[in-house]
Amino acid sequence: MIYTVTLNPALDKTVEIPSLTVNSVNRITTMRTDPGGKGINVSKVIDKLGKKSIATGILGGDTGNAIQSALQAMGLETSFRFVEGETRTNLKVIDPVNHTNTDINEPGVTVSEEILNQVLEELLGKIGTGDIVVLSGSLPKGSPKDTYHTWVRACKGAGTKVILDADGELLSEGIKASPYLIKPNNHELSDLLGRTLATPEELEKAARELMEKNGIAKIVVSMGGDGALYVTDKETIYAEGLKVPVGSTVGAGDSVVASLAAAEESGMSLEDTVRLSTATGAANVMCSGTQAAEYDVIEGLIPRVVLHRM
Ligand SMILES: Nc1ncnc2c1ncn2[C@@H]1O[C@H](COP(=O)(O)OP(=O)(O)OP(=O)(O)O)[C@@H](O)[C@H]1O
Ligand SMILES: [Mg+2]
Repeated sequence: MIYTVTLNPALDKTVEIPSLTVNSVNRITTMRTDPGGKGINVSKVIDKLGKKSIATGILGGDTGNAIQSALQAMGLETSFRFVEGETRTNLKVIDPVNHTNTDINEPGVTVSEEILNQVLEELLGKIGTGDIVVLSGSLPKGSPKDTYHTWVRACKGAGTKVILDADGELLSEGIKASPYLIKPNNHELSDLLGRTLATPEELEKAARELMEKNGIAKIVVSMGGDGALYVTDKETIYAEGLKVPVGSTVGAGDSVVASLAAAEESGMSLEDTVRLSTATGAANVMCSGTQAAEYDVIEGLIPRVVLHRM
């Protein structure tokens, strides 16, 4: 089974306001809400790929209930811990006249180390050898910076393969516990190594350095519209980005993580994994917001993927 962990979820509320103006009454013309947060996005995409996952993490209040109900209505299995406080609602205001994008984000819940440990214990009670655990995204206020280090170590200890997708200190601390796979983008990898990495050759060298130093089995470096680099101990494949009409690039990385987890569980070859995840990333870029692309769109893009063995 694949378990996704979202410790800091959000209800993404996207509204359209033509000619948004401060100090004035603004009227919304269209609006939609989507359960969001990186692990939740991963679960939504895994579902579209025809695989099962259990979405876990922390929710609070009416917003937490709304997220859980929305996920269950999509047919996703959930197992969230409810805590005091209110899960954040992140408001995205799109102004189609002035072509602006304004984010207004709530603070969300605050957790104690004790709550985090309880949530981890609950997860450890469910997972076992052969399972895949996806840890991704930011942490709620009150979380120690080495939370992902603790979680990676514990989930590995339970015999699972851990996929970590985080940035900054959460990533640099998390990798010290040797996750199975990480998926930084080129900027996150550059920050981690403290030098600018631009070409696939530079990125491969950096990825191999990290793999050897930290005992990481696989690294996928995504490069937005320029595609991605897949590095394992035996192989390196560079996949070109697919030219597609861009709806929203939000969550592109999450859809790549979803396909990596699904491919890992199915025991796919690296080449098939690269085709699937490149197509999944591009298909999701074609959608608006964090809506997950339908599988027929993904399937249609697979034959267009161009890859190079390095
Ligand atoms: N403009 C684009 N056109 C085609 N494919 C894209 C585009 N942007 C992203 N992708 C696909 O999605 C993958 C992941 O994108 P990206 O590198 O932006 O992830 P990310 O920075 O981790 O994103 P996020 O964390 O915001 O979800 C890319 O490797 C590529 O396959
Ligand atoms: Mg990302």
